[in-house]
Amino acid sequence: MPHSTPIPSRTQVAIIGAGPAGLLLGQLLHCAGIDTLIVERQSAEHVLGRIRAGVIEQTTADALDRAGVGARMHREGLPHDGVELCVDGQRHRIDLVGLTGGKRVVVYGQTEVTRDLMDARAAAKLPTVYEAQEVSIHGFESGKPFVRFRSNGELHDVACDFIAGCDGFHGVCRPSIPASALHTFERVYPFGWLGVLVDAPPVSDELIYVRSPRGFALCSMRSRTRSRYYLQCPLNNKVEQWSDVAFWDELRRRLDPQAAADLVTGPSIEKSIAPLRSFVSEPMRFGKLFLAGDAAHIVPPTGAKGLNLAASDVLLLADAMIEHYDEHSDAGLDHYSAHALARVWKAERFSWWLTSLMHNFPENAGFGERMQEAELAYLMGSRAAQQVLAENYVGLPMDARR
Ligand code: FAD
Ligand code: DHB
Repeated sequence: MPHSTPIPSRTQVAIIGAGPAGLLLGQLLHCAGIDTLIVERQSAEHVLGRIRAGVIEQTTADALDRAGVGARMHREGLPHDGVELCVDGQRHRIDLVGLTGGKRVVVYGQTEVTRDLMDARAAAKLPTVYEAQEVSIHGFESGKPFVRFRSNGELHDVACDFIAGCDGFHGVCRPSIPASALHTFERVYPFGWLGVLVDAPPVSDELIYVRSPRGFALCSMRSRTRSRYYLQCPLNNKVEQWSDVAFWDELRRRLDPQAAADLVTGPSIEKSIAPLRSFVSEPMRFGKLFLAGDAAHIVPPTGAKGLNLAASDVLLLADAMIEHYDEHSDAGLDHYSAHALARVWKAERFSWWLTSLMHNFPENAGFGERMQEAELAYLMGSRAAQQVLAENYVGLPMDARR
């Protein structure tokens, strides 16, 4: 947690953002003896208060182990061997383990991943500046990069070899690259997700992804006593419009009769609305600046890929930087963008596909709806189609470049 290691005037890698991407990169580089400074504009408490992803792929779990922070995830995380799809009131199980030759996912919240990484960074006394103001990055195109920010009223310039832009979709790094050097691709979906966190046991042992005539819903969890539920909602909805009672009533209407009867409700301990977006910015490198995670790409949350993609970017970037320092080779850095983007686009495709399949599209009545129904019927009847879903859901292997 926050600590007061002095701010250096020089570091090897300056990391902007203390989300999962920035913190994991810092820890992987530290394990390889490379110095980092992390600059974060929010407080540590604020970062930990954001309730986001919950599903960890094996590749991400392996990365957390490699960073030395996997112990609590192994103790407290819930391994999931399958997920359920509920379509028009009927549940169908996707046997992740059986369809992928033994792969599964772990349910362990992003908040917990972040806390484990923050604790490890504090224990190693590595410098992190929280509540940094006026963060800006300079010199990355000319070869003399530095970051500038204000902390406790004092202006700091920190020189570095590389800048890692891990500052999320609304960060400062991507907009610092000349627009003419970037190519962006975007799809904004005409609905959002209303999420509720509740101290009540999950409705089922496995996650349930629900397609109903009233819209998508997701039953997820954080532990055996804490559940996370989502409802597709119109984009113009405000959290204040949704009382707890209204949320639970609407969720029950979208679930199958068994789940509706089994649902244990309670007062919400967090309630928020997230818009859904697909976004990719290419390339992920400009000079000495490297983008990773949400700073470079966004997926709609349906496939549970956002956090996992951030982790796989960071694995590639950490290895490339280690190769630079240890072997004096820039091959990994030169290939980073192409290598990461090949994986990113596959996750973008899967997330777009699952979103398109499971949500109500207001403008989609008629032909589009029949296409969804036909695809779902095919999926339920075809082991091959289920295998495609399962191998993407558990996460594609790191070396799947093409
Ligand atoms: P972030 O977690 O966004 O971290 C970036 C950090 O940079 C933040 O701490 C931010 O404060 C900091 N920062 C920003 N600007 C600056 C600046 N100028 N200077 C310094 N620091 C800065 N994924 C799923 O898989 N499932 C989900 O259910 C899910 N739900 C989500 C809900 C919401 C509301 C959002 C926004 C995302 C959700 N995601 C979900 C996506 C997932 O949480 C992200 O993919 C993941 O957080 C990416 O990690 P990151 O470190 O790249 O970015
Ligand atoms: C959660 C979020 C997702 O987007 C998802 O696909 C699965 C789980 C969650 O917050 O638990």
